[in-house]
Amino acid sequence: MELYKFHVFLSMVAVLFLFPVVHGWGLDGHYTVCKIAQSRLSKAAADAVEKLLPTSANGDLASVCIWADRVKFHYHWSSPLHYIDTPDNLCNYQYKRDCKDEDGVEDRCVAGAIYNYTNQLLSYNKGNDHVSTYNLTESLLFLSHFFGDIHQPLHVGFTSDRGGNTIDVHWYTRKTVLHHVWDSNIIETVEERYDDSNVDELVDAIQKNITTGWADQVNSWENCSGNKTACPDIYASEGIKAACDWAYIGVSEGSTLEDDYFLSRYPIVLWRLAQGGVRLAATLNRIFK
Ligand SMILES: *[C@@H]1O[C@H](CO)[C@@H](O)[C@H](O)[C@H]1NC(C)=O
Ligand SMILES: *[C@@H]1O[C@H](CO)[C@@H](O)[C@H](O)[C@H]1NC(C)=O
Ligand SMILES: *[C@@H]1O[C@H](CO)[C@@H](O)[C@H](O)[C@H]1NC(C)=O
Ligand SMILES: *[C@@H]1O[C@H](CO)[C@@H](O)[C@H](O)[C@H]1NC(C)=O
Ligand SMILES: *[C@@H]1O[C@H](CO)[C@@H](O)[C@H](O)[C@H]1NC(C)=O
Ligand SMILES: [Zn+2]
Repeated sequence: MELYKFHVFLSMVAVLFLFPVVHGWGLDGHYTVCKIAQSRLSKAAADAVEKLLPTSANGDLASVCIWADRVKFHYHWSSPLHYIDTPDNLCNYQYKRDCKDEDGVEDRCVAGAIYNYTNQLLSYNKGNDHVSTYNLTESLLFLSHFFGDIHQPLHVGFTSDRGGNTIDVHWYTRKTVLHHVWDSNIIETVEERYDDSNVDELVDAIQKNITTGWADQVNSWENCSGNKTACPDIYASEGIKAACDWAYIGVSEGSTLEDDYFLSRYPIVLWRLAQGGVRLAATLNRIFK
């Protein structure tokens, strides 16, 4: 009994303290990408997603969008699938050169994972979801999560600083690392200042821009050249360019980042969240067409 209680206590500690140490957009970033995506699904894709979602999600993809970060401890093999390390200071990306893990195993990066889980989900089209070799619920959750990660500029970052993870900075008065600024701090400050600290208000504001200010770009975001189902290489190339142009620039070890940085960078973050959501929907619509 006491031992059991202790285990419950330990799991609660794990929930509180281990899970927030995540890679990729924080909870709200992933939530936003999936919320936008689910609102743009075709009937066929919406039906498939609803079928594949775990019952705990209550039909809401956004509520389980962070799942892939939560299982990293348990599915250790999946850790390298959340990012891409590109050569220091080159500011470009090539699948063949860069999509591998630390041991050099090819395809083990977020772009390779997007191809992988897209292909797995294509087997759903043949109506054999119950006999698939893969657990397509997990394929959907991985794919949805990785569309968020690949749109976080520092998830396609330099190798030696691990995408800004080793660059210590202050976010206003708080100590953090540059990677975390882009995962979470910028989004949290946007929510505090403009959205009553409410992620759903942030989602609504981005949705409005998708249908107004950015409407003329949305078609090109959705495009995937040739007849390909998924186009992660385009997103990764944009990502490392944004990392160089906006995330790394002007930042060094020990920098203090405040309004100058926040006000010029947050529009990039919101724009990337919008692209992630629009493109996840477009891809799911192609998969389940
Ligand atoms: C592809 O998906 C399977 C099933 O989850 C996984 O075992 C494998 O590591 C994945 N590979 C890549 C490159 O994503
Ligand atoms: C598929 O994966 C989900 C999430 O990990 C799990 O809850 C479910 O039991 C799995 N389904 C099967 C048939 O293994
Ligand atoms: C919407 O777009 C405008 C103009 O580009 C920009 O100033 C604003 O920050 C954007 N808001 C959101 C929530 O994306
Ligand atoms: C997107 O693809 C469509 C159809 O292939 C094409 O007509 C359109 O010009 C493309 N748009 C952009 C911006 O590439
Ligand atoms: C795309 O597919 C259509 C029909 O399946 C085909 O006619 C067309 O040539 C393909 N285009 C490319 C660029 O592969
Ligand atoms: Zn992640």
